[in-house]
Amino acid sequence: MNVVLVAAECAPWSKTGGLGDVAGALPKALARRGHRVMVVAPLYGNYAEPQDAGIRKIYRVDRQDVEVRYFQAYIDGVDFVFIESPVFRHMGNNIYGGNRMDILKRMVLFCKVAVEVPWHVPCGGICYGDGNLVFIANDWHTALLPVYLKAYYRDHGLMKYTRSILVIHNIAHQGRGPLDDFTYVDLPEHYLEIFKQYDPVGGVHFNIFAAGLKTADRIVTVSHGYSWELKTSEGGWGLHGIINENDWKFRGIVNGIDMKDWNPQFDVYLASDGYTNYSIETLKTGKRQCKEALQKELGLPIREDVPVIGFIGRLDHQKGVDLIAEAIPWMAGQDVQLIMLGTGRPDLEQLLKQFENQHHDKIRGWVGFSVKTAHRITAGADILLMPSRFEPCGLNQLYAMSYGTVPVVHAVGGLRDTVQPFDPFNESGLGWTFDSADANKLIHALWNCLLTYREYKQSWEGLQKRGMMQDLSWDNAAQNYEEVLIAAKYQW
Ligand code: GLC
Repeated sequence: MNVVLVAAECAPWSKTGGLGDVAGALPKALARRGHRVMVVAPLYGNYAEPQDAGIRKIYRVDRQDVEVRYFQAYIDGVDFVFIESPVFRHMGNNIYGGNRMDILKRMVLFCKVAVEVPWHVPCGGICYGDGNLVFIANDWHTALLPVYLKAYYRDHGLMKYTRSILVIHNIAHQGRGPLDDFTYVDLPEHYLEIFKQYDPVGGVHFNIFAAGLKTADRIVTVSHGYSWELKTSEGGWGLHGIINENDWKFRGIVNGIDMKDWNPQFDVYLASDGYTNYSIETLKTGKRQCKEALQKELGLPIREDVPVIGFIGRLDHQKGVDLIAEAIPWMAGQDVQLIMLGTGRPDLEQLLKQFENQHHDKIRGWVGFSVKTAHRITAGADILLMPSRFEPCGLNQLYAMSYGTVPVVHAVGGLRDTVQPFDPFNESGLGWTFDSADANKLIHALWNCLLTYREYKQSWEGLQKRGMMQDLSWDNAAQNYEEVLIAAKYQW
């Protein structure tokens, strides 16, 4: 099948979160299954691999002509196509920067270009002619693509065989604005209706995600847990009505992880500074050495017996950093070490530094985005804490488990799908979960986890090994996406 995945970010070239990882990895897994796959993303900086394809096109956005160029790289069986224009390039790492109108115009341009890329940029077998392909769009940024596909082509009897899937990675961002925004998206007047979202307290606003969800041939989200939450008024952030009405075309598929980047056996960041690569066979000695190296690198007391708890993530409300903050006085009274890594809200960054200053013998708050440090914490910590308020899939708990690091998580979204609670009677399960975003619940789960760590060594080893033995690769997810691709193309 011909597949074109379109996303506002794509790792390793651009990434602010899990969306970038998915856009970088899922296409390769689909290509391994024999599909012809193209990825389309904006070009935000100077990337090493992609070459100028020598093609230029003009698109009109907000009554202005914008020239775009196309860069191209063929890697691991996938054609990565990057759209070059000063509006993207000027953003650098600040992909979603600028005011609401700036972002809207960038995404309008991106979607208008992306829907025609397979036409203009020849990539092996993908032939636009009759449009024999399926687009996979991601989040609100590219939710206009299914709408353009319909309004510009299918309504006119063109691209009869082209279908689209829209993937929800996070419903919290929807491309909302006043109804006036409609003038910027360049669609026939009768399309306004599908963008209208009525607020429960009265009033109506313009909503890009809503229009995309209604128009796409299939909708996917990144876990089963989240697919259920999206149908509730609490989890759907106002769009639950649309999800429920479109349940027939909606499905949850848990993300995979890139086993080349995140594998303790081959992890390049464990090859120096006293760290070591390890596998399930060398788990004990390998992890001990990584823990020692981590304590040394961060200037914590070097002790094998003290449990090291890690947190890696954006510092914001979603990730539940405030719950950890509430639990700090309790943690400070325990014989533990806590290492937190992340960037985000300035007040939470400040809080991290404050924890470190107040409890210098046991807490480190590392403000920054460091891939290397993330890998090293994942390897050196015993426990990974993820108290997210909501988590569509979550990747860090998957990385942790494949490194023999035991997760303690709030049982929501993908965390509920992927971390089965430890059952001491059957020696089964993968970690600890707590069922509401409440600091006391977090403390209770962590307390049980620490008890097992200290007193029941064999159970602990079982937890670690079960985590490591799972197949968390993209291959499973790709097989499920394939079913949706087939359904989008042939069953409607
Ligand atoms: C978003 C979600 C996260 C998910 C990722 C990839 O960043 O917040 O839970 O893992 O997308 O789908």
